[in-house]
Amino acid sequence: MVISSSLIADNAIRETIQQLPVGYWDFAAADTKEWTHGYHSYPAMMIPQVARSLIQIIHQHQPMVRSLFDPFMGSGTSLVEGLLAGLNAVGSDLNPLSRLVTHAKTRAWDPDALAARVRDLLDEVGSVQVSEADWPQFGNLMFWFKPAVITALTRLKRSIEERIPEDMKPFFWVAFSDTVRWVSNSRNTEFKLYRLDADRLSRWNPDVLTTFSKVLVRNQEGNRRLWQKRPLPSVSLHSYNAMDLSALPDNNFDLMVSSPPYGDSRTTVAYGQFSRLSLQWLNLEDVANPNKIDQSLLGGVGSKSPEYSLPSPTLDKALREIRDRDVDRAREVISFYQDLDCSLKEIARVIRPGGYQCWVVGNRTVKTVQLLTDHIIMELSTRYGMVPVVNFTRAIPHKRMPKENSPTNQVGAKAATMNGEQIFILRKV
Ligand SMILES: C[S@@+](CC[C@H](N)C(=O)[O-])C[C@H]1O[C@@H](n2cnc3c(N)ncnc32)[C@H](O)[C@@H]1O
Repeated sequence: MVISSSLIADNAIRETIQQLPVGYWDFAAADTKEWTHGYHSYPAMMIPQVARSLIQIIHQHQPMVRSLFDPFMGSGTSLVEGLLAGLNAVGSDLNPLSRLVTHAKTRAWDPDALAARVRDLLDEVGSVQVSEADWPQFGNLMFWFKPAVITALTRLKRSIEERIPEDMKPFFWVAFSDTVRWVSNSRNTEFKLYRLDADRLSRWNPDVLTTFSKVLVRNQEGNRRLWQKRPLPSVSLHSYNAMDLSALPDNNFDLMVSSPPYGDSRTTVAYGQFSRLSLQWLNLEDVANPNKIDQSLLGGVGSKSPEYSLPSPTLDKALREIRDRDVDRAREVISFYQDLDCSLKEIARVIRPGGYQCWVVGNRTVKTVQLLTDHIIMELSTRYGMVPVVNFTRAIPHKRMPKENSPTNQVGAKAATMNGEQIFILRKV
């Protein structure tokens, strides 16, 4: 009997994973901010060491792997790890903040030139004259920022615009964006935008320049490390909707490492809402309306019908139970998985035969019914030519993700949604 080389590689990958010590995937003591990973906070970031290990294991058994794709790149964790492993990296995300952050994290600037610009900027920013007329124009500005903070951010923004060369701007905009989040009146521990309560707000006087300087110090250290890693492989970033990757040819990538959203933005992680204040300040050219981003993401437009036809027995079972409890929630769930299915088709198309997909997903609970997204993706992907290689669970000691959500969508009502995350590998036949 002839055993194909793909099956041999599948077995080797499976065995390597099975032989890892118990708790290997926890990475409880790992530094998740090393390299450029600490540049900017982002919801539901992947643990860099998870991406690193997956890439290493695949590479070990498929040494010809040259390219890595992440269709839901977020803050670019898997792309950075792809680069560090010597792979050409291609990423995409509908959130413009994701593209800015990933751009900065995946390129290295000369550390001395950067340090000189940082010094100049910090020396001169105090003398920049701005008035209220220079404040940005967006709704609720005063709700989300104190006047002194607005003035300091306006001054900083003006300095970056005028004193930093175009080529270096992404590095500074990312530090600016992270600063915006820290100095706003929002609760920094939440992914959704909630204002500080009145008591904390009355005592809230953040120092914009000190915050920005600290972010710069941290990010310069990351840049220095990446600079030492030169020459870096190529990186290209896109704003494709994962449901339509028609700009990418068939059979294009050797490997995908990605974590999709857990569900629609309204009831799970609101990436657009998380990014809104930064995007309003940054005023990026390619952002039509920062308030509309969440609607464009998977499941962003709710399904009108509680009916659907997706070939996944696991989804069928869960949906029957959810529909019995709440038809509207069932519609939301359907719309998310319909969109996810469109992306699965596209992502499978752009992976070359024999190439691998590594997924890191969260199985959430809706109306006390668990949605086994790992099984659902495996079942749905079969018709797109993907076969399962291995799947396992990792505990989540670190990951910033909603362990709780509001099952009834009432503010304050919370229930456990996820305790671990599922990792699984598929191969294209
Ligand atoms: C779980 S996050 C990825 C986090 C990433 N692994 C990291 O480490 O930062 C999912 C990402 O999918 C993006 N997304 C959701 N729907 C999308 C779609 N239809 N097309 C492209 N990106 C989408 C979101 O903007 C978000 O950045």
